This record gives sequence, C-alpha cells and structure tokens, in this order.
Amino acid sequence: MVRRAGAERPGVKRAGPDLGGGPDRVTGPDPTPPDPSALLEVRDLVKHFPVTRGVLFKRTVGQVRAVDGVSFTLSAGETLGVVGESGCGKSTLAQVLMLLEPPTAGTAHFEGRPMFGMRGSALRALRRDMQIVLQDPYTSLNPRMTVGDIIGEPFEIHPEVAPKGSRAAKVRDLLDVVGLNPEHINRYPHQFSGGQRQRVGIARALALRPKVIVCDEPVSALDVSIQAQVMNLLRELQSEFGLAYVFIAHDLSVVRHLSDRVAVMYLGKIVEIGTEEEIYQRPTHPYTQALLSAVPVADPALRGRRDVIRLTGDVPSPIDPPSGCRFRTRCWKARDLCAQQEPELVERDGHLSACHFAEQRSVVP
Ligand SMILES: Nc1ncnc2c1ncn2[C@@H]1O[C@H](COP(=O)(O)OP(=O)(O)OP(=O)(O)O)[C@@H](O)[C@H]1O
Ligand code: SF4
Ligand SMILES: [Mg+2]
Repeated sequence: MVRRAGAERPGVKRAGPDLGGGPDRVTGPDPTPPDPSALLEVRDLVKHFPVTRGVLFKRTVGQVRAVDGVSFTLSAGETLGVVGESGCGKSTLAQVLMLLEPPTAGTAHFEGRPMFGMRGSALRALRRDMQIVLQDPYTSLNPRMTVGDIIGEPFEIHPEVAPKGSRAAKVRDLLDVVGLNPEHINRYPHQFSGGQRQRVGIARALALRPKVIVCDEPVSALDVSIQAQVMNLLRELQSEFGLAYVFIAHDLSVVRHLSDRVAVMYLGKIVEIGTEEEIYQRPTHPYTQALLSAVPVADPALRGRRDVIRLTGDVPSPIDPPSGCRFRTRCWKARDLCAQQEPELVERDGHLSACHFAEQRSVVP
C-alpha cells in the first residue's frame, strides 16, 4: 500500500499561524491543470437532485444537494476511506464517479484525462479500469444467474479481455482468487452465504483487472466476523493486483486498517481529509472528533480514557442546509461567524480541515 501525505488540491491554502480561529479565505474555482501523477483527481464535484411537485405538470421546487463541492486525489495502489453519516452523499459520490449519474458540476480526471464526456474507446477503457462493489450482497447479484455467469458477464461487454473459449477457466481462477471453490461455478447466489456472495461481487469487480474499485459499504450488511474476512481479502487483493480503492463506510473504525488516507463527509462536503494517522491521532474538525469518540475501543484499559463527545440533533436536510458551516447546528463550538461564513478546506497541522476554529483534539488514546 502507498502511504502518501498529499495535499488534496493543487494550490490549496495553508492556515496562518493563528490556528485557533479567525475567518478563512474563500477559494475560487481551481485553475491548476490536473495532476498527471494522480490516478484519479476529483475537483469541486457537485451532484444535485431536483425536488419536483405536481403529477402532470412537474415543477422543480428545490434541489437535494447530495454532493456539494468535493475534491480529492487518489494514487495508484492507494486506499481513500470516505466516511460520514447516512445521507451525507457517499453513494451519490460513488455513482457519479462510476458514471452512473451525471454530475451537476465539477471535474474528474482519470490518469490525467477528463472522465465526464468521455466517449468511444476511451470510455470503454475507463469502464474497464473502474469497478464498483456494492453494499448488499443479497440484492446486488441477479438471483436467476449462476455465479459463473455473474462473474463472467463483464467479458461479454469486453470480449477483448477474455475470448469466449477462455472464459470458464478465467471465472474459475477468479473464484479461487476470492477464496471460493471453483467447482461452485454453476451454483446460484442463494446457495451462498452473505460473505460468500460479497466475494462473488468482488470477483466480478476484479474480472476486467481494474485499477480502481469503488467499494460502497461492502461489509456493512455482513456479520462482524465475516466483515474482517472480507476486509482481509480486499487487502490481499490490493497488494496482489496493485488496486486502488475508494472505500466508503459510515463508521471510522471500519476503514481504519485499510485506508492510507481518510475523507470525512458531512452533508455533501468533505470536512476533513488526511492520512490515517492525521485523522485518527490528530483530528482538528469537531465532526471528525465526534465520529471518533463513537468508535469502539478494543482495549478495555483504554475505554475509560476515551474523550466522549455526544452529538445532539439530527443531520439537517440536504435540501436546505444551514448557512455558513453546515455542521453548526450540532457543533458545540459554533459561534456567530459559523453561521455567516462557510469554512473552506484549509491546511492545518499538515492536513485539510474545514472549520473556522479547527484545533487538534486527541479523542482516542
Ligand atoms: N436519485 C435521487 N434522487 C433524489 N435524491 C437522492 C437520490 N439519490 C440520493 N438522494 C439523496 O441524496 C442524499 C445523499 O444520499 P446518498 O445515498 O448519497 O447518501 P449516503 O451517504 O450514501 O447514505 P447511506 O449511508 O444511508 O448509504 C440523501 O438525502 C438522499 O435522499
Ligand atoms: S460550526 Fe464553527 S466551530 Fe463548528 S465545525 Fe463549523 S466552523 Fe467549526
Ligand atoms: Mg450509501
């Protein structure tokens, strides 16, 4: 795995010496060319869904701001964990990156080439290089297809990867790679357990030898013991095939041991992003600190020493997010400035945090 403490955006601001507070400057659209060394570079990505009223004559009465200006880079072989509560826009981000939903605004570059608007052979190659594993192994596999057909289906669309005569052997290899019995190639999804089905989903994602797999909560529906097995498999596959992952979860504890860097999302925005160590040991955003305080601590001796932060109130609606800082309605540090001015992602203590009053707080000893 690649450990990389990179700035997320070229030209990102550094906070001045007054780390305790003061308004941050607002950045405009980023004019810098895409980073040629990044496998994936996402800038100012926005996805809004219209809210409509009326049956015959639909009119738009608002927008769900599901993803509202997200920027990050991903290097080859790296894992970026993306964490946040339900409804913060994680799956929407995944769908837009997989070109399953068109973006409202923003750019994404894959190996330096713009992804949105790609056509022809470039688009086919991109669809090979980027794959997705979904959360629910019970609904994401077609129950009427054998696992052999499910895993081999991508070869129908990309026959150049596996000519017809070689496909069954390739599918058997893939079953073997993900720890399933190749003899079970003709079984149906209902004949497998939840963890095994998720392995089938991973085998299908691997079939075209992608460079990136977007994992949208791939272990959330599984028992804890099975979760660890699937996470270990993903780690092994990463080192064997040099894969990069965008790994989505709603819990910081799930992504910790796989992630090189972690992005914390709140209401459509990244509020803090940094290396695994920066986020877990030196978080500066109050929301990250609150999420960390809810992470289970394995060592009983350390449990009592954890800083407990209880968040009050519900996540506001993404149709009408709070002015200024979106987290202010639940933040114990909020002041007038937080309602008036939106905090930008600014480099503090070596990583980016979007809080006017960001300061380090070690939550888990
Ligand atoms: N197709 C859609 N049309 C309208 N609104 C949508 C659509 N898809 C998602 N949303 C809304 O966008 C917001 C973000 O949803 P999303 O599924 O991306 O969140 P999430 O972080 O993946 O949540 P979860 O952890 O529950 O999976 C939610 O308010 C959701 O209701
Ligand atoms: S409300 Fe203010 S103090 Fe709290 S996270 Fe937002 S900017 Fe920071
Ligand atoms: Mg989701």
